[in-house]
Amino acid sequence: MIYDDIPILKSIKEYADSEALPFHMPGHKRGKIFNKLGLEYLLENLIEMDTTEVPGVDNLHSPEGAVLEAQRRAAEAFGADYTFFLINGTTSGIYAMILAVTKPGDKILIPRNAHRSVVSGTILGKLVPEYLMPEIDPYMGIPMGIKVSTVAEALDHHPDAKAVFITSPTYYGACSDIEAIAKIVHDRGKLLLVDEAHGSHFPFHPELPISAIKAGADMAAQSTHKTLASMTGSSMLHVKDGRIDIDRLKFFLQLVQTTSPSHVMLASLDVARYIMEKHGHMILEECIKYSNMVRNEINAKSPFYCLGKDKINSYGIHDIDSTRITICLKGGGISGVKGEEILRNKYNIQVEMSDARNIVAISSIADDEESYMRLLRAVLDMGRWHNAEDELLHEIRLPYSTPVCSIPPYEALYRQVEYIDVEKSPGHISAEMAVPYPPGIPVLMPGEYIEKDIVDYLRKCIGEGIKISGVSDPKFNKIKVIK
Ligand SMILES: Cc1ncc(COP(=O)(O)O)c(C=O)c1O
Repeated sequence: MIYDDIPILKSIKEYADSEALPFHMPGHKRGKIFNKLGLEYLLENLIEMDTTEVPGVDNLHSPEGAVLEAQRRAAEAFGADYTFFLINGTTSGIYAMILAVTKPGDKILIPRNAHRSVVSGTILGKLVPEYLMPEIDPYMGIPMGIKVSTVAEALDHHPDAKAVFITSPTYYGACSDIEAIAKIVHDRGKLLLVDEAHGSHFPFHPELPISAIKAGADMAAQSTHKTLASMTGSSMLHVKDGRIDIDRLKFFLQLVQTTSPSHVMLASLDVARYIMEKHGHMILEECIKYSNMVRNEINAKSPFYCLGKDKINSYGIHDIDSTRITICLKGGGISGVKGEEILRNKYNIQVEMSDARNIVAISSIADDEESYMRLLRAVLDMGRWHNAEDELLHEIRLPYSTPVCSIPPYEALYRQVEYIDVEKSPGHISAEMAVPYPPGIPVLMPGEYIEKDIVDYLRKCIGEGIKISGVSDPKFNKIKVIK
């Protein structure tokens, strides 16, 4: 078999051939959105169209033709003053946003549960992050929104912070009150940057949460590939005119992206915008209707709980993305990790992710009635795979101590380090990050003092089979500390 000699191609072909029902990104769902709209011819023969900047094909980093026009149209469609196409995901948009508005040594307020690219952005920019604690839903065991008062208090404590960075929606679909946060941030002369990776679809249906740019953010990065029709890794950075130095932003966008951008990816962003402009309302209407149907049926007929608008006004939640199907399996005694496994192995459905209590299924404009019904039937049926042992996973509590920062993460990275036994680590300064799921909040960052209850908590997580991302020893017997 030729594929045996081409392992990556083999792996993606096998997955495509498996016909697993994808409730994960990318939002085009194996190109299904194009078939649904009779547009399958648009992105045919991609390899023939893959090209560099020959005459007639524009340049991403100094656009004058097609790219400039496509970005202009996107800005109009997504309600921004400027839009920049990204071929290194929202990750690159987050780096560029942060670097464009700060200088080394500056303070920036970021959520404690921010995506790792936000922490990386503070490392690249040699910044001092100060953390905004999100509200935790104790039943689902996950972080939800950031309260407006949390931002106000943090700004009181750190009046010298340059900018406030918020993640909204979260991976689970919870939105913070960006409008109110924008107001207090701007009243104090600061900038508001939003990680809206999971909210590209928001501008195209009135039942969805308000988009960050419309709510007053100065910049918002969206992973178009996650919920709309563009190719994996393609994103957009939307900017509001006024407070942002656009030339500086363009400089950093060049710095964090390749000089050989894929025009096929850029074209897929253009196509994603076209589809939403022409058909957005209609295809989102269907997506919202069936996602709500799945949600309501799960809540009425199963022991599980599907996150919905009933949670608005609790745990910092201002709004909920109705298209996101986040299901807490705790009531049925099944762990999220086990639930994901059951859906994959018994029903050939692949969800986006799972944690100890929850699974997250990404529904999108590409899904149809049959896919939603298949997901619903499987979730209603999965109770019979109940395994009492999994219940142990629900009992782990977050540590009580608040991490105390000794030096900023960027500085910790350049210090001399050593590996020591975890038992002996309390009192030392960590040189690594430790992020268990749930709740996806780093309990340790590089540069923070290690406390005993944090070590106990992490050991308990490992004992229960919860993965800790960021640690160098997956078994957590050793930890990297600053010498
Ligand atoms: C909340 C959040 N922000 C940012 C990112 C990074 O986005 P991208 O994969 O487009 O670089 C992700 C990716 O999963 C994410 O979940």
